[in-house]
Amino acid sequence: MTRVNQPRILIASDQEDAARCTADLMQETLREKPAGVLGLATGSTPIGVYRLLVNRHRAGQLDFSDVTTFNLDEYIGLGPEHDQSYRYFMQQQLFDHVNVVRERTHVPNGLAANIPEHVRDYEERIRQAGGIDLQLLGIGNNGHIAFNEPGSAIDSRTRQVDLTEDTIEANSRFFNSAAEVPRHAITMGIGTILESRRIILMATGKAKAKAIRVAIEEPSDPGNPASLLQGHSNLTFVLDPESASELKR
Ligand code: GLP
Repeated sequence: MTRVNQPRILIASDQEDAARCTADLMQETLREKPAGVLGLATGSTPIGVYRLLVNRHRAGQLDFSDVTTFNLDEYIGLGPEHDQSYRYFMQQQLFDHVNVVRERTHVPNGLAANIPEHVRDYEERIRQAGGIDLQLLGIGNNGHIAFNEPGSAIDSRTRQVDLTEDTIEANSRFFNSAAEVPRHAITMGIGTILESRRIILMATGKAKAKAIRVAIEEPSDPGNPASLLQGHSNLTFVLDPESASELKR
């Protein structure tokens, strides 16, 4: 079976090169559209990308003054001052070091009193901003994207989700113990992500090799959330040799 839209697969020479390729693609988007809307991801994978964006901003090559950002997800129960919240991460890694306007940076609010209303509002803000021009994604060891765990529907929207034991275990490395990892999160849905005009999924390291193979080479299946991206008209995988090591084709 031939797919109508084939993803672009860039295999960088190493992790640093993968960060450089990703930063280049983001910079290109903002060069074409200085008031662009970026979808941003957390996790260890994009840290090198944010470092490069900060350096390029300091060197006068990147201006964020008209940029709007939407993050993928946030833990429920963690506020912006909690050092494991994704708002905190974004401030530390990027927002505090560039000239983005705080009011134009959006991260779901893990302390929202009314979550159903908050997630509707989040979607509405994305629409009002004109949609996401470029969405950056990482991937979980179990193939999750943002916090869309296996079983997430292709048309799912921003919502509250339960984290799987796999994800709690994987993310416990940032907390004192697995018991401290929140059990619930707010995540953009797969349907929300698929509406982005361009998607870049970045992965590095051997631990992601299986999830990457499944995402690219197995049939699209809700059991493997990243595989639901297949068919998007502008999808690029930026990989290092280790995360690409199980690709057969
Ligand atoms: C978390 C995030 C995902 C991220 C994943 C992988 O669960 N919600 O958005 O892609 O972790 O993280 P890392 O890049 O640290 O491997």
